[in-house]
Amino acid sequence: KRIVVLISGSGTNLQAIINACKNQYINGNVVGVLSNKADVFGLTRAENADIATCVLSHKEFDTRDAYDIQLLKEIDAFEPDLVILAGFMRILTAEFVQHFQGRLLNIHPSLLPKYQGLNTHQRAIDAGDKEHGVSVHFVTEELDGGPVILQAKVPVFAGDNADDLAARVHEQEHRIYPLVVKWFCEQRLTMSEECAKLDNQAL
Ligand code: GRF
Repeated sequence: KRIVVLISGSGTNLQAIINACKNQYINGNVVGVLSNKADVFGLTRAENADIATCVLSHKEFDTRDAYDIQLLKEIDAFEPDLVILAGFMRILTAEFVQHFQGRLLNIHPSLLPKYQGLNTHQRAIDAGDKEHGVSVHFVTEELDGGPVILQAKVPVFAGDNADDLAARVHEQEHRIYPLVVKWFCEQRLTMSEECAKLDNQAL
């Protein structure tokens, strides 16, 4: 299977997936990495693994629509079976999401449907939650919505700050994202229309 990964940052999840492909845990290959930011370490990780990269800066586009149309074209050029968001810090248009529906995954650092959006670790601490975690889900038009495939939980300890908690969650991210990608590549996961609709209604 051909996998394309979208990033905006350091790319530790990207690295976990590259490693899992390399050691054949995942029956697939990362064929391209796209970033909306130049000079992020994730691009270096891709280059080190001899993976094609593409930087498409959102600053060069007047509208979100125009950016996403170009992004879609750049991704399609890699002919992906699966597109994964790994710290890609952009809201995607409905047209983009529909184009890749059923083969577009995201990882979000909370136990969805809790804490959609940003600053999830601090929000879990502020709420006094005893547990927190991470979710891998199919992407639909709802931001951080879409059917959840797999979650991992971590404890929240007294005195944790957001960085402590983020580090604990990250460890789990690097376990569950490769696992879900593995399942997808083995054709064990599909998103039915019905499932996507039900999920949107629930939100
Ligand atoms: C992760 O925390 C992920 O859950 C979120 O963005 C972060 C990406 O981290 N969506 P990295 O670039 O993979 O290290």
